[in-house]
Amino acid sequence: MASSITSLRFHLLCCLTAVWLLIPPSHSADPDPLQDFCVANISASISVNGFPCKPASEVTLEDFFFDGFTKEGNTSNIFASSLTPANVLTFPGLNTLGIAMNRVDFAPGGINPPHWHLRASETGVVIEGKLLVGFVTTNNVFYSKVLSAGQMFVIPRGLVHFQLNVGEGKALAFTAFNSHLPGAAVVPFNLFASSIPNEVLTKTFQVDTDLINTIRSKFGS
Ligand code: GLV
Ligand code: MN
Repeated sequence: MASSITSLRFHLLCCLTAVWLLIPPSHSADPDPLQDFCVANISASISVNGFPCKPASEVTLEDFFFDGFTKEGNTSNIFASSLTPANVLTFPGLNTLGIAMNRVDFAPGGINPPHWHLRASETGVVIEGKLLVGFVTTNNVFYSKVLSAGQMFVIPRGLVHFQLNVGEGKALAFTAFNSHLPGAAVVPFNLFASSIPNEVLTKTFQVDTDLINTIRSKFGS
């Protein structure tokens, strides 16, 4: 009897250990790479969770450098801001490395509107100007601060956040992510430029259809 209980305990322990070993690590946003590099073949026809690697013989020096941040972004748009991404789609050398960056330019009064990244936390540094940086927790607690050149911020993964240029002139920030493709769900576009039925929006925001249509018209839908 005692030996069958001991054997049952042993089997239970083995099962628990196996389950624990099989749970993917939760400390990193993207999986760890399994080779020195895996420059993405963005146009590959096969579809995997990520991008397949270019053959090493086709990898060139240019795959590891990106000059998309050298120019100021065009801020002539409704938000008076511009985001230039360096992620696996624009900079295939980032593939599998679990990192990406953005350059974010702001005209005076410009805003990077409320959005969230489902695959990454974000950190950023203000290079020029004055930015009000804020995020909201899942309990609706709002954290924000006005930052100037050299000051940094962090946005925990998945939380809605924004940056607003509150200075007199232009502003510039660089942001960084622990994913090669953080993804961004931009709240106004998600809600008002998608085909979510008006009834969902009128009931959600407790307003009439005319107001929803007015807001939709600002986002080209
Ligand atoms: C800023 O919030 C960014 O996503 O680059
Ligand atoms: Mn962001």
